[in-house]
Amino acid sequence: MSARIPIRPRRLRSSAAMRRLVSQTQVRASQLVLPMFVIDGPDDADDRPVSSMPGVVQHSIDSLRRVASEAAEAGVGGVMLFGIPEHRDAVGSGATDPEGILNRATAAVAAEVGDAVVVSTDLCLDEFTDHGHCGVLDGEGRVDNDATLVRYAEMALAQAEAGSALLGLSGMMDGQVAAVREALDAAGRTDIAILAYAAKYASAFYGPFREAVDSQLQGDRRTYQLDPANAREGVREAALDVAEGADIVMVKPALPYLDVLREVADVSPVPVWAYQVSGEYAMVEAAAANGWIAREAAIMESVTAIVRAGADAVLTYWAMELAEWTRR
Ligand code: PBG
Repeated sequence: MSARIPIRPRRLRSSAAMRRLVSQTQVRASQLVLPMFVIDGPDDADDRPVSSMPGVVQHSIDSLRRVASEAAEAGVGGVMLFGIPEHRDAVGSGATDPEGILNRATAAVAAEVGDAVVVSTDLCLDEFTDHGHCGVLDGEGRVDNDATLVRYAEMALAQAEAGSALLGLSGMMDGQVAAVREALDAAGRTDIAILAYAAKYASAFYGPFREAVDSQLQGDRRTYQLDPANAREGVREAALDVAEGADIVMVKPALPYLDVLREVADVSPVPVWAYQVSGEYAMVEAAAANGWIAREAAIMESVTAIVRAGADAVLTYWAMELAEWTRR
């Protein structure tokens, strides 16, 4: 005897073929961006593993080039480059030096991959300053917003010159998008796009990244990054960045902030991206290494959830593997 249940949602889950047919969200390789780290030193040096991010390394320039071209071959949409300099100072001189590690690496990667994949660069001072903050400091040791904008403008020109097509403004200074857009346009670089880390939260999930870039930071970034308690502020920051000329806005981290991502995606006139950060990566890898979670399924589920919540593209350290999986 069958109960009188006229509406049975399970019908659409009855076979793999049916489930595939009604699936609403598909992760595409072309919407994945691979973040990569490059460390100063001989071009052909061995990669250095990042212990808190198993599978992620600090590349030499040669290996960075190699992996960037593999990413292009795998159909990954873009790469995001982070540099780790040998010397740091108060103003982050290495960030604007054409021979600085990030600019040198960008030129090498751009020459290698051409237009096969979008080459983008982190535009922030934290990897280059000896105090580890995202900006320069004033006499009292506070992050000086407006003085930092001058450095960001210089950094933008250096990165554009090196061959970056998309600048990732991750420093969370007020007015940074407008300052960089103005500098680029004044230099005739109207072709360079801006990815604004619009809603970037002061997150504990950046922990492993700080190891990956040998971060010098003491303390925290709570005077410039957003309070995890605040969603409205994230939406406001995104709107401001759009008004200042951002071509793309981003929410970061991803999985703990899907509500913010959804809200921004609902109103944004420009593409909305999400950054699945180092801590999100490390948690899954650690649990999987212990046999506590099914690694591949957890990775796929997390990225699918981020896309479902409204991300048009996702920065993820799993971009290469995901690109392979989306092909089968
Ligand atoms: C700042 C920057 C950070 C990340 C990307 N850009 C670190 C921070 O704000 O402290 C974190 C990325 C990650 O955790 O994967 N340049």
